[in-house]
Amino acid sequence: TIKACIFDLDGVIVDTAVYHYKAWKRLANEMGFDFTEHQNEQLKGVSRMASLDLVLGWGNVTDATDAEKEEMATRKNTWYTEMINLMTPDEILSGAQEFVESCRNAGIKTAIGSASKNTPIILAKLQLTPLFDAIVDGNSVSKAKPDPEVFLKGAEALGVSPADCVVFEDAVAGVEAAKNAGMKAVGIGSPKLLSEADVVVNGLDKVTLEMLETL
Ligand code: G6P
Ligand code: MG
Repeated sequence: TIKACIFDLDGVIVDTAVYHYKAWKRLANEMGFDFTEHQNEQLKGVSRMASLDLVLGWGNVTDATDAEKEEMATRKNTWYTEMINLMTPDEILSGAQEFVESCRNAGIKTAIGSASKNTPIILAKLQLTPLFDAIVDGNSVSKAKPDPEVFLKGAEALGVSPADCVVFEDAVAGVEAAKNAGMKAVGIGSPKLLSEADVVVNGLDKVTLEMLETL
């Protein structure tokens, strides 16, 4: 039986991809190149520095030093957090809050498992912080998805064994991380893309507690 649900944040609880895109695009534009929203898909679930490497690759920027890269990532994050600070609970994805609440009412523990270092501010802006028994994010993990670290730490914090956890993820690397952790995975998005998941739906508004028992 399922004892815990672990949720990715970006793309599962809230759609921050558009803000990440705007901020990375601004950085690219300042450096004299551009990239598409389609390319931006590749940045989902990818850490800040790994995202920067992808963006720089699209602009054929090969000579940036580590110090320059740090400065670029900080610049991007400043723009990103300016947008994040304006977020309101209206931006919670459809059904997300209701599903997390239904888990808690059923005695199922809840956690966030995200690569984002901005997790605390995003949850605060959405007024969702109290709904999670544990929060594991980019500030507390060292290995990026598909490494299972973020989800294993979540299970540990909840005191639940991995086999009794379900992960909700919109990124391919996130679904892989869940599977590497020995957990069930519900993909949020395209069934084609997230074929490693046990089931794929297009949003938390399509998930029921009954469904979890069939995974
Ligand atoms: C999530 C998003 C990624 C983002 C990463 C790090 O995984 O899907 O697009 O790059 O978090 O976010 P951060 O807020 O730490 O820059
Ligand atoms: Mg995500």
